Amino acid sequence: MTPAERTTALEAIAGEVRVCTRCRLATGRTNAVPGEGRPDTEVVFVGEGPGQNEDQQGRPFVGAAGGLLTELIGSIGWQRNEVFITNVVKCRPPGNRDPEPDEMAACAPFLQRQLEVLDPALVVTLGRYSMGTFFPGARIGQIHGQFRPADPATGARDAIAFAMYHPAAAFRQLSLKETMRDDMARIPSVLIEARRGRTERPQVEAAAISEVTTQVEPDAILEPDQIVEAEAPLAKAVLEPGPRSAPEPLLVPQATPELAPEPKPMTADPDDPEPTVPIDAGADDLTEVLASIDMHAIPHEPSPETDQMRLF
Ligand code: URA
Repeated sequence: MTPAERTTALEAIAGEVRVCTRCRLATGRTNAVPGEGRPDTEVVFVGEGPGQNEDQQGRPFVGAAGGLLTELIGSIGWQRNEVFITNVVKCRPPGNRDPEPDEMAACAPFLQRQLEVLDPALVVTLGRYSMGTFFPGARIGQIHGQFRPADPATGARDAIAFAMYHPAAAFRQLSLKETMRDDMARIPSVLIEARRGRTERPQVEAAAISEVTTQVEPDAILEPDQIVEAEAPLAKAVLEPGPRSAPEPLLVPQATPELAPEPKPMTADPDDPEPTVPIDAGADDLTEVLASIDMHAIPHEPSPETDQMRLF
């Protein structure tokens, strides 16, 4: 698919999202939030669902959580307009409550189709609900900073999924911001591994695909140094030839950061340390957090660049 074809396909999906009435969230929304970013990116971030700011602007991650996400992306030398950012549900749950299972099910085909079009090498999940799509049954406190091959049924047909906390979690547990920075620092290395896997996998006959996908251990969650072994069963399961084109060096900083040290054990409940937080916490909750974020690093104001991103 050419970049122009990708753009057209993503716009078509976004158009459907904006008029969607498949679930009750449609009734309360101001704007649906299809997602935005670079159509030929290799990296897709998947959050939970729009908050109040996103609902008002029709764009993902533009509130406080978005400011932190933008800062985290910047911490590895990338910019948010170099990746694609979307959510599990495309309309704001009322009062920022958690999305219901039937709402996520109704919205799932949109994310699946976006991933089919984008064909990313790396999908970064943000928070428990996004994690649930790519790491079923996992616990965020146990798998953040780790990755596994994405199930092609998600739409990401040849990708690695990498789990992170939701940025809003840092608003309730400040220590998580450091954990997220450490996890984010792993991403360039994981992307390199993901690219390598896509390049090395030979093309196979379509007939081989179903046989091989059943060989992929569904619950295998990997540390970066396990990727070589983990690719073995997938090596034959190529659904597409390698990268879509010569991979752009854009997303890998010239000086690739060293793998971050192992995340520190959580002091809170180790089984479920991601606090339940509103998708986009209210201003009262944020005073302390915002003081700790370098707001100068966060492009909140509309600019020609961010206007461009509204295409999607
Ligand atoms: N939180 C999310 O999960 N998604 C957004 O787009 C904004 C906040």
